Amino acid sequence: MCGIFGCASKQGNAAKVIHAALKRLEYRGYDSVGEATLSEGKLFIKKDSGKIDEVHEKLNLDDLPGNLGIGHTRWATHGAPLQVNAHPHIDCEEQIAVVHNGIIENYALVKKELEDKGHVFRSKTDTEVIVHLIEELVKQQNLTLVEAVAEALKALEGSYAIAVISTLEPDKIICARNESPLVVGVGENAVYCASDIPAFLPLTNKAVVIEDGELVIITNDGYEIQKIADLRLVKREPKIIDWTPEMAEKRGYPHFMLKEIHEQPLALRNTLRLQEHYLELMTTFLDRAKEVFLVACGTSYHACLAASYMFSKLAYRATYPIIASEFAEQHGKSVNIESTILAVSQSGETADTLAAVEAARHRAATILGLTNVIGSTLTRVSRVYICQQSGPEIGVAATKTFTAQLCVLAQLALRLAKKRGKVSQDEIDFLEEKLEQIPNIVENVIVKQEDKIKQLARKYKDKREFFFLGRGISTATALEGRLKLMEIAYVPAIAYPAGESKHGPISLVEPGFPVVFVCPPDETRKAVIGNIMEMKARGASIIAIIEEGDEEIKNLAEDFIEVDKGIPDILSPIPYVIPLQLFAYYMAVERSHDPDKPRNLAKSVTVK
Ligand code: G6P
Repeated sequence: MCGIFGCASKQGNAAKVIHAALKRLEYRGYDSVGEATLSEGKLFIKKDSGKIDEVHEKLNLDDLPGNLGIGHTRWATHGAPLQVNAHPHIDCEEQIAVVHNGIIENYALVKKELEDKGHVFRSKTDTEVIVHLIEELVKQQNLTLVEAVAEALKALEGSYAIAVISTLEPDKIICARNESPLVVGVGENAVYCASDIPAFLPLTNKAVVIEDGELVIITNDGYEIQKIADLRLVKREPKIIDWTPEMAEKRGYPHFMLKEIHEQPLALRNTLRLQEHYLELMTTFLDRAKEVFLVACGTSYHACLAASYMFSKLAYRATYPIIASEFAEQHGKSVNIESTILAVSQSGETADTLAAVEAARHRAATILGLTNVIGSTLTRVSRVYICQQSGPEIGVAATKTFTAQLCVLAQLALRLAKKRGKVSQDEIDFLEEKLEQIPNIVENVIVKQEDKIKQLARKYKDKREFFFLGRGISTATALEGRLKLMEIAYVPAIAYPAGESKHGPISLVEPGFPVVFVCPPDETRKAVIGNIMEMKARGASIIAIIEEGDEEIKNLAEDFIEVDKGIPDILSPIPYVIPLQLFAYYMAVERSHDPDKPRNLAKSVTVK
C-alpha cells in the first residue's frame, strides 16, 4: 500500500502542497518518498528512501519549481526501500514521470519486451514498466499522452492507481485506477488527485471518487473522466465531504481496526498477486527440508497453526507450529542444518520471533520469512522471504494482516501439494479457483453479517467470560477469535480444540455461559455437533459460525452467523474469522474501550 498525490494549481508552488499532502498519506507507507514537478518544459525530481521528515531534512521537498506535480509515499513490495526504487519513476528521455500504488503482475514480461527494444531500467520495481511503456507508445505510435496512458494500461495486468506527468504535455496530470483507490479533489485554484480524501481535505472538501477502469485528465481548472477502454467521457460531479480531519484519516470509520477489517477484500486481492518466483523458491525449501518449524507470536502464531493443517492435509508435509518464545527451549538443541524455520511476523521485528530465528541460525538451519515489512530484520536474516503486501496496519489487534498471512500460507501449501503430486490437478484447479473467490466471500460476510454481529455484541456485552471452540483447522480460528475478544474488549476467554473441551473447560459451563463454535461443514462437523450438544445440555448459550443454510446447527444454536457456501476446509479460517473480528470490535465498542489502543499492548513487541 502506497500513497499517491498530484496537484495542478493556478499559482504557487506545487511541491509544498504535495509534501504536506504526502505527510497526510504517510499512514499508507513510509519507507521512501518522492516528488516530481514540471517547470519551463523540464522535469524536476527529488526522492529518497526514509521517512518523509528525514528525506525532507536531507533534500528539502518544498524546493522544486512549478505549479504542477506528483508525489508518492512508498510501502515497498517489489524492490527494496532504496533511493533508486523510490517513486516517481521516469522514462529513458526523462520526459515522463509516474507514481503508482498497486502491483503490476505481468511487469517481468513487459520489462523484457521493453528492454529488447532498448529501454534502460534503473530500478527493481514493477512500476517502472508503466513509464517506459508510455514512452514507447508516445514515440512509436505517435499517441497523445492520454492515448498512450490508456494503451499502456490495457497492456498491463494487476492493480494500480497512477498519476503521470510529462514535459510533452505540461499542463496536465493523467491519473487512472484499477483496484487501488483514487479520488480527485476540486479546489478554487487547484485540482488534486490522491489515494485518499485526507490528503486534500484541508484544501478542499469537494471530492470525486474514481472507479475501476477510469482515467482522469486533471488541469488547474478542471477534470475530465474517461473510460480507459475507449476514452469515452464519464460525467461525475464532486460530492461534498463533511468529515473532520480525524474521521478522514480513518476514511470515515470510527476506528482503524474497523477500517482494516473492511480493507480485507482488497488486502487479500493484493496477496493473491505475489511474485510466483518467491512462492516457488520457498516451496522448494519447504519440500526439501527434513523438518519444518512454523515459528511466530500472537496472531501470527494462529496463522502458523492453521498452516500446519494446510501443509499436512494438502501436501502431506508435517510441520511443527510453535510459539516463538518457546522455540529455543523446546527445540534449540535438536534443530540443525537439515531443519527449516518458517518465521511468520507481520512486523518482522518481534523480539521473540527473531530470537527463535537466531537460535536456529546458530545451528545452521534454513530461515524462511513471511512478513508485511520489507527491510525489516526478518527480511534481512531470511534465506527467502515473502512480503504479504497488506500495507501498514495501524490497529494494534491484527486483522487484515492475519487473513493475508493465511492466504499466503494457503498458496504455499497448494504449491507444495502440486510439487509433491499429492492432490489431483482437478482438486488443485478447484482450490485455486476458490482461493481467487476468497476476497469476494470475505466481502460478502462483512456486508451481510456486520449489522447482526453488532446486535449480538449488544446482547452479550455484559457476559463475563466466553469459550471459543473449533475442531481441526477451526481450532486456529477459535484461538484467534478468543485473542481478539480478550485483547480489545478485555473479556476473559478460553479457546480449545472442541474435542478437548470435555477434558476440563466444560466444568466452567453453567446456564447462559456463551460458547462460540466455529463450525464450517468439514469432516469435523459431526463431532462438533456432539460438542455443541454437550455444551447445550449444561445450559450454554451457543453462538455458531456456520455455513449459510446449515439448518441443523441453526436449530441447536441460540445465535448464528452465516458464511457463504462451498468453502474448502483449508481456506475456511479466512472467511470464518471475519465474524469473530467484528464481534470483538463491537464488544469493545459496547464496553466503551478503544479498540485501536488496547491497554498494555503494543503493535510490535521488540522486547523478549
Ligand atoms: C503483538 C501484537 C499482536 C501480534 C504479535 C506478533 O503481540 O499485539 O497483534 O500478533 O505481536 O507480531 P508480529 O509482528 O510478529 O506478527
